[in-house]
Amino acid sequence: MVEIISSPTRGISGTAIVPADKSISHRTVIFGALADGVTEVSNLLEGEDVLATVAAFRNMGVAIEGPDAGELRISGVGKFGLQAPARDVDLGNSGTSIRLLAGLLAGQRFASRLTGDASLRRRPMGRVVDPLSQMGAVIKSTDGCPPLDIQQSKGLAGFEYRLPVASAQVKSALLLAGLYATGNTTLHEPAPTRDHTERMLAGFSNAQWHAGSPIRSAGDITLSGQRVSVPGDISSAAFLIVAATICPGSDLRLPGVGINPTRSAVLDILGMIGARIDVSAKRLESNEPVCDLRVRSAPLRGIDIPAESVANAIDEFPIIAIAASAASGLTRLRGASELRVKESDRIAAVVQGLGALGIDTVEYPDGMDITGGSLGTGSVESFGDHRIAMAFAVAGCISEGPIEIGEAENIKTSFPNFLPLANSIGLSVKEQS
Ligand code: S3P
Repeated sequence: MVEIISSPTRGISGTAIVPADKSISHRTVIFGALADGVTEVSNLLEGEDVLATVAAFRNMGVAIEGPDAGELRISGVGKFGLQAPARDVDLGNSGTSIRLLAGLLAGQRFASRLTGDASLRRRPMGRVVDPLSQMGAVIKSTDGCPPLDIQQSKGLAGFEYRLPVASAQVKSALLLAGLYATGNTTLHEPAPTRDHTERMLAGFSNAQWHAGSPIRSAGDITLSGQRVSVPGDISSAAFLIVAATICPGSDLRLPGVGINPTRSAVLDILGMIGARIDVSAKRLESNEPVCDLRVRSAPLRGIDIPAESVANAIDEFPIIAIAASAASGLTRLRGASELRVKESDRIAAVVQGLGALGIDTVEYPDGMDITGGSLGTGSVESFGDHRIAMAFAVAGCISEGPIEIGEAENIKTSFPNFLPLANSIGLSVKEQS
């Protein structure tokens, strides 16, 4: 088990190239494998979650060269070219991999078994299994959790479906299944979620893409290989943005960060709290909006987080909570019960960790109240959750003394170079043996 220790520092400065977007990297591998012809990827995230997706497609007979310094070459096998996996498909810690692959494999003419680590085996799969069953898939779970035993498809039927939860993973699973179904699959979301699958589906085919609901996929869509350049991950950038915001005297530049409007609510929320974030050089790369960011430290004040921002900042609440604990007054988060079924129960993990550092918090079923104060010193649990570990590592830059964070090994699932990059801009974070 890796433990890290983060100590107070004096300002965050310089330029940081954040790792590539995890969600887009997964989808690039999936669409590249299903396309006819070669897909060449630059700046793929070489984090464990994405490597699990790469390994899954190799296990199904797809020739993939790399990744090597972010370059990946996928020899696509076409929509019907996957082979039965030689062994169980182990997706490690990656919820995105297992849910998207459940949708894809539900439509294949072979059986498969998807599994993962202890955390993944506790995560709810009914949200994909139920609608996929309505399309005609036969999938057996273990009390609604992985492993998932997916039977050989006897044919899927397109359908119209209203997602009960705002989940891009569920939406994407159904869009992928829709590629193997008769007719159209039409999806309605309760709130807009990240639209990388829709953008990429359009980029790899002649399917139309438009922002918002309803979202469509169809059995007659075919895919052809592309060149894809993956932007920097705003979810990873968020840790460094908050570090520079809360640590006095900071001035940090973050070039090449993705700001897809379905992902960038974190910038709006931090802006409302008082963060000083300049966005420049907005551009489109591989059909995704990208920009350069500059962040300077600023005094923060508590806010009520707008309900409509929750789905589009769902991965950023652990680090937003650190900003809130450095703000004056109360920050209130509600409508975020999805946080309870992420890599850990992120409401409980944040409340417990901030409490251990002396911050006044109140836990609610769907959120939390945080009253800003002085972050103390001590030990916190990350519950094996990469984003909890990195959030408390950032808290250490303004705490009264060192913060020790347990079970931090999963940082490499999304941000493999977090320690060296954080230290290069002025944080003081190290592994403890
Ligand atoms: C993701 C969707 C979100 C997010 C996860 C990545 C994706 O999950 O939390 O980190 O790539 O589609 P949900 O769909 O469960 O909200």
